[in-house]
Amino acid sequence: MLADRSIAYARYVDRSRGLVNRKIFVDPEIYQVERENIFGRCWLYLTHETQIAKPHDFVNVFMGEEPVIVCRDGDGAVHAFINSCRHRGNKVCRVDAGNTKAFVCPYHGWTFDTRGDLQGVPGHRDLYFGELDRADWGLVKVAQIASYRGLIFGTFDPEAPSLEEYLGDMRWGLDLLFDQGDFEAVPNITRWSMDVNWKFASDNAIGDMYHGAWSHRSAMLAGHISGNGTRSASIKPPQRDNGFTMVTAYGHGFNANYLEAAAQLDTPLAAWRKDPAARARLGELRSRVNRANMLVFPNLFVNSGSRELMLRNPFGPERIEIWKTILVDKNMPPETRRQQVRASNRHFGPAGMFEQDDGENWDQSTAGARGNISQRYDLNYSMGVGHGTFVEDEQSPPRIESLYNENAQLWMYHVWAEFMDAESWPQLRAEHDEPRGVL
Ligand SMILES: [Fe+2]
Repeated sequence: MLADRSIAYARYVDRSRGLVNRKIFVDPEIYQVERENIFGRCWLYLTHETQIAKPHDFVNVFMGEEPVIVCRDGDGAVHAFINSCRHRGNKVCRVDAGNTKAFVCPYHGWTFDTRGDLQGVPGHRDLYFGELDRADWGLVKVAQIASYRGLIFGTFDPEAPSLEEYLGDMRWGLDLLFDQGDFEAVPNITRWSMDVNWKFASDNAIGDMYHGAWSHRSAMLAGHISGNGTRSASIKPPQRDNGFTMVTAYGHGFNANYLEAAAQLDTPLAAWRKDPAARARLGELRSRVNRANMLVFPNLFVNSGSRELMLRNPFGPERIEIWKTILVDKNMPPETRRQQVRASNRHFGPAGMFEQDDGENWDQSTAGARGNISQRYDLNYSMGVGHGTFVEDEQSPPRIESLYNENAQLWMYHVWAEFMDAESWPQLRAEHDEPRGVL
């Protein structure tokens, strides 16, 4: 469904005052436009390169609600195509992952290779298939695929800018994680679902260090240790200056808090902090960071502290599936690797202490957006609005020298409205605002 041009989605987000209308979290029609204008256009995370390491390896993933097969052909090149036979639309592969030279539709046996091209149709020689001979009936291909530091992304929009341009300065943020070591994905992913709107999960990822000391206080008091061996956050009341915030083009951003002076770094999981090569890659500013909660717009949460990728994929306005991938340094001793995986599962995932706190929060936020009377009253995202100071120096792309503010969340909603109002990628690209515009 194309956007109704009589509606300006920008009216739902008041960036200068820090207000967001609740309707955008529950309205079924808005969600249908999101499927087209957000999930049909943006670069979306697909899988980690090490999860399809060998020729003919494949994984089944989702881009929005579209089931997509990502696989390597016999030469090792990566392809992605919609998991839906062109004959009657059935899935041609129903398992999560594996290795195969062909995908065969269970209904009539149409057969596709690992490039998604149609290889054979039972009876093709004897029966008459008029259309089959005149057009490409291979699986529908994802328009563009590219990767950044092991993360494979795809977009359905042939007009989308390159992944490099799309990520832009956010790459400096992602490298907070990737410069720590040489990462591979722990085999398999953990999947679970929540009855929440996807944007509440994204707004927690992009800039909500604020909730940590309150929502996760019980976990921290219990001595929770993050995946990279340091405590996850301060249990002291929020201190504005103990970190920084970054907002980058196309809706990405993060909060990063600094290590506290009292942080214990003599654990095996924190050993990387003493590695001079890692410190040199990170540079002085990033070496001081305890953890960064990052969002690659629209729906990939990257956590530099616990070393996790959490994809929050929408299945309706009030439903997400979360897919969690744990990244570990290839050079870690096996016992340290096991420690990191255990720490991760205590933290995020269905049994994770933080995850359960957050899931309940987003569930309640979504519920709080349903009321037709409530919807007349905007949500307040005004913390720090008009009070941010951008620092421009050689240490990083422009950053806001404050940890606790809602600038990144507002930026995400502002860009959301831009995508919703734009006719196309070229229009969005031409009219895209400056991330710094509000301060
Ligand atoms: Fe949280």
